[in-house]
Amino acid sequence: MDILVQPLNRLIRVQPGVNLLTALQDAHVPMSYSCMAGRCGTCRCKVLDGEVMEGAGEQRRPLDGGPGFVLACQTYLTEPCTIEIPEPDEVVVHPARIVKATVVTIEDLTHDIKRLVLRPAKPVEFSSGQYVQLQFTPDHVRPYSMAGLCGDGLFEFHVRVVPDGRVTGYIARDLKVGDTVKVSGPLGSAYLRRKHEGPILCVAGGTGLAPILSILRGAVAQGMTNPIHLYFGVRSPRDVYGMPWLDQLKRDHPNLIVHVVVASGGHPATQRCGLVTDAIEQDHGNLSGWRAYLCGSPPMVEAATVVVRRQGIPAEHIYADAFYTQGT
Ligand code: FES
Repeated sequence: MDILVQPLNRLIRVQPGVNLLTALQDAHVPMSYSCMAGRCGTCRCKVLDGEVMEGAGEQRRPLDGGPGFVLACQTYLTEPCTIEIPEPDEVVVHPARIVKATVVTIEDLTHDIKRLVLRPAKPVEFSSGQYVQLQFTPDHVRPYSMAGLCGDGLFEFHVRVVPDGRVTGYIARDLKVGDTVKVSGPLGSAYLRRKHEGPILCVAGGTGLAPILSILRGAVAQGMTNPIHLYFGVRSPRDVYGMPWLDQLKRDHPNLIVHVVVASGGHPATQRCGLVTDAIEQDHGNLSGWRAYLCGSPPMVEAATVVVRRQGIPAEHIYADAFYTQGT
């Protein structure tokens, strides 16, 4: 039975019942993947025509993007169909692994945000914007995005300590320098698209700044010169952090414009006040040709997705890994 792979316009012949990711790999079709277990979203693609069978991965991540999107590693081919694969020239393959890491720094960034730095026992490759699962104890597990770059040799995370949060409370109260943490990953499909040459919109809500810093640092390291607008939304003035890093990035990347938007309690004379989504709508009438990276809480990411789609960015050029376990 034949499967048509777009946009390559390639026909591949498969046996009914074969896994879609396996079929693509066997046919040497370039395709990103990481966890092979339905967790990371890296292998997301779209069924344009025909029916497929979706397996029930144990920890299936919520799948965004709209109808027709499937995870190739969890999909089985049962009849001829047409599959659209994402940007065949931007393939990212970092097989997910589990390594032990040692806590080297825990420090305050704001009244409730901590900077956590781990040194992995073995190098772990990842792309800017991806995240890992941190297991502090068998009962304390949470995903966090890296703020740094793959070559740093360290993992840096930003943790907002939630009142009564079980995992973040553990990090704030019990975790110490020298402790061991199990790191599994990398995960996530909101990684930097290095081949895109047009303008980029980054939206960070709170500690969503961490993956955005990684993306901006990655863009600088790659020598990208794209115009970049970063909208950094915080709840109140005391939640603003990371300005020295952003100032350094502005020096390294003169086409970077940073908008800090304070939701409440800001000073209109010196600060932009309101919601990031309103700020984006006020500043940009048409975003066609842009790519968007959205990082933060699910409600923020969902609201920003609606806005940027309305302003002309198609779903396949909006990259987001909202953490559905936030607030623990
Ligand atoms: Fe398919 Fe991770 S490789 S979801």
